[in-house]
Amino acid sequence: MTPVRKTARANEDTEPEPDLARLWERVMTPEIEEFQPIEEFRPIEAFRLEPDCIWVQWAGGAESRFHHIWLRDNCPQGLHPVTWERIQDVMDLDPDLCPASVKLTDAGGLTVSWTDVYTSHYGADWLHRRRYDATARAERRLRPSLWGAAIADTLPEAQFAEIATDDAALLAWLRQVRNFGFALVRQMPDDERAGEQVAERISFLRQTNFGTGFDVISKPNPNNIAYTAIELKAHTDLPNREMPPGIQFLHCLDFQATGGDSLLVDGFHAAETLRAEDADAFAILASTAIPFRFHDREWDIRWSGPPIELDADGHVRGIRYHMALTAPLDVPADRVVPVYRALRAFTQILRRPAMELRIRLRPGDMLAFDNRRSLHGRAAFDPNSGSRRLHGCYVDIDEFMSRIRVLEGENLLH
Ligand SMILES: [Fe+2]
Repeated sequence: MTPVRKTARANEDTEPEPDLARLWERVMTPEIEEFQPIEEFRPIEAFRLEPDCIWVQWAGGAESRFHHIWLRDNCPQGLHPVTWERIQDVMDLDPDLCPASVKLTDAGGLTVSWTDVYTSHYGADWLHRRRYDATARAERRLRPSLWGAAIADTLPEAQFAEIATDDAALLAWLRQVRNFGFALVRQMPDDERAGEQVAERISFLRQTNFGTGFDVISKPNPNNIAYTAIELKAHTDLPNREMPPGIQFLHCLDFQATGGDSLLVDGFHAAETLRAEDADAFAILASTAIPFRFHDREWDIRWSGPPIELDADGHVRGIRYHMALTAPLDVPADRVVPVYRALRAFTQILRRPAMELRIRLRPGDMLAFDNRRSLHGRAAFDPNSGSRRLHGCYVDIDEFMSRIRVLEGENLLH
């Protein structure tokens, strides 16, 4: 399966700096179809046996290599037949094991007979989906669609009635949330359970110290500035936890107040912008654990983590950022000033108008966003001018991504 991607398209809120122009060249087009993998059967036409690997040549001419130890370890017949879990133990692998013979099957796959008298069968599609050359690994990677303020003209959204009942519509909407880091739902019922109903179309809800479902309203004696009427600058929720919540749902049930527009910022876009403009600041924020803390009369929850989380290949994987929950910096003394400089550089980017999506939710709208990517906030509002009530809940990333894969049928492919 090969992801099909269309040509990059410039976005209208492109920053003027040359580095950003280069960055935008990598921005994907917003159509979700670009992420739809297509079945592309590639039979093997030839192979070449080498001392530590087998090179295969696919129809069309491309080549991939598979190491003997990898092939034997991942033999498709090596899974438990009922649980589908691996039963091969790495210590049982002979690092010097070689094929005694290799045959091309009529279907374009490989049959490998090993020197220990074990035979493995590899379908062409099975192998093709798992090739690990640099090009294939890059193609398989899900690339987020980076966005800025201009996405206000083409908001990713769906209707409640569609996603509540139709799995195909649900999948299309979930892919929007995955690719853009947010999407809206319109025409929600006037029912505080409706947001949780959508979330439960994905999976069970995440419970935190704020409850399973929570009301975002201005109230007396708040334990969280979200429960006031003051401005909330762009942040991710609960960075003070080892595992901050994944997808956040905010269902607008009532909104008569003046002010209070919602704010979203693509943290991945901001991080890539920082990487392009100020590599030193990016490196500091990707490698320095910033302490975060929430405490009230019942809880004292703390965690330290880098504001920009990278995966093993250096791609931005998560954002952890909330000024209101940032605890006193606790880093080696010679890093204090550079860390503050880096935090200010990142924050300056996060607050550029070209980065900010500002939308006014109306009763019946729901905003869902990836809390590990999209920072959210709101303008101050006047609680004396009318009511404002959002009802929120969370579902974690594992369950969210699993739901997409199950709807796509990926879970049935071994
Ligand atoms: Fe929040």
